[in-house]
Amino acid sequence: MVKIAVLGYGTVGSGVVKVIDDNNKEVAASCGEEIEVKYILDLRDFPGDKHEAQVVHDFNVILQDPEVKVICETMGGLEPAFTFEKQALEAGKSVCTSNKELVAAHGPELVELAKKNNVSYLFEASVGGGIPVLKSLNDSLKHEKIDSIMGILNGTTNYILTKMEKEGTGFATVLKRAQEKGYAERNPEADIEGYDACRKIAILASLMSGEYVSYEDIYTEGITKITIEDFEYARKLGMTIKLIGSCKRNDNGFFTIVAPFLVPTDNILASVNNVFNAITVHGNMLGDVMFYGKGAGKEATASAVVADVVDIVKHLDKHIAVNMNNKKAQLSPKDNAVRRFLVRVADSEKDAALEVFGNKIEVIENDLGEFAFVTDLISEKHFEEKKNTLKTVKGYIREL
Ligand code: HSE
Repeated sequence: MVKIAVLGYGTVGSGVVKVIDDNNKEVAASCGEEIEVKYILDLRDFPGDKHEAQVVHDFNVILQDPEVKVICETMGGLEPAFTFEKQALEAGKSVCTSNKELVAAHGPELVELAKKNNVSYLFEASVGGGIPVLKSLNDSLKHEKIDSIMGILNGTTNYILTKMEKEGTGFATVLKRAQEKGYAERNPEADIEGYDACRKIAILASLMSGEYVSYEDIYTEGITKITIEDFEYARKLGMTIKLIGSCKRNDNGFFTIVAPFLVPTDNILASVNNVFNAITVHGNMLGDVMFYGKGAGKEATASAVVADVVDIVKHLDKHIAVNMNNKKAQLSPKDNAVRRFLVRVADSEKDAALEVFGNKIEVIENDLGEFAFVTDLISEKHFEEKKNTLKTVKGYIREL
């Protein structure tokens, strides 16, 4: 019997307890030992809850109990989660977490601390909810040279973009409906501005590089400027629009970006809809592999936390290696990335746009009283310079 503690009895934490309750036999068969939730840390009491007797309010009770071998941190946020995780690792307890903010900010330091104390620090649920992508990168794909990781990493924005495309409804209305249905937070900024996807690609990029990619160094654009007219143009081009997080290896290092992209409809990412996530990984020997599934939700995310518990219990008293360290990975500047851009300017600027971007552009007919075109292949730097010479750029979107 291995005893564990769960920090935070919210959506994910209560999901972890539920997975261990409902799948008790499967969990035991998977790790070769029964798992018991000995403590649940929360500020609140839960009278009438099946596990009310396990609820404690003081983290020291857990920290000082030598029976507790694994701690699941499902509180979220930086503090006190960071302090609790550090104290747990220093006390010789393994930690697994769904806390992407904390992993993106301090992952390498916590991995190092776990190694020093011969315990493990795992965070499968921090990226792609229940999708087992991190374990695959750390394990089955570790012998591969990974050239590229890219995907749809945020369920809320994918739901909003899917509804905008399929129903022709504007961003603000879809967001409001998503909030009413509980698919978007009351404060949706982290999702719609791309910050959540940025943290997830930072974690993936760190694992890909074996070093550390800071989320602060990743160019990030959200979806707030995307309109239904943009989807009409995308349709004319045989494409759709998705919020993509991407990390590519090139001769100058790793290039990472989060932004809305035009995605050709025959690209598999174009058919990932609603709250689903998908991550494509390209290995130099393997070629492309894709991970698809629920990127959020109580049970799915909790299932990934429990997968880490199982892994840790199978390797009790050993450190499970995680491919990241505190050295900053060499990043390739955004300026050098070359791609095509969809651009919309006022009709009055047609001649200026043609002069600046040249006659190799692909003009898109429209009845919106504007001039829309797709540029030839151009670097981000040159695009920015040319775009800035025009006075009335209504919008632009990168092509994948
Ligand atoms: N807000 C996140 C999403 C939750 O929409 O994907 C999972 O990290």
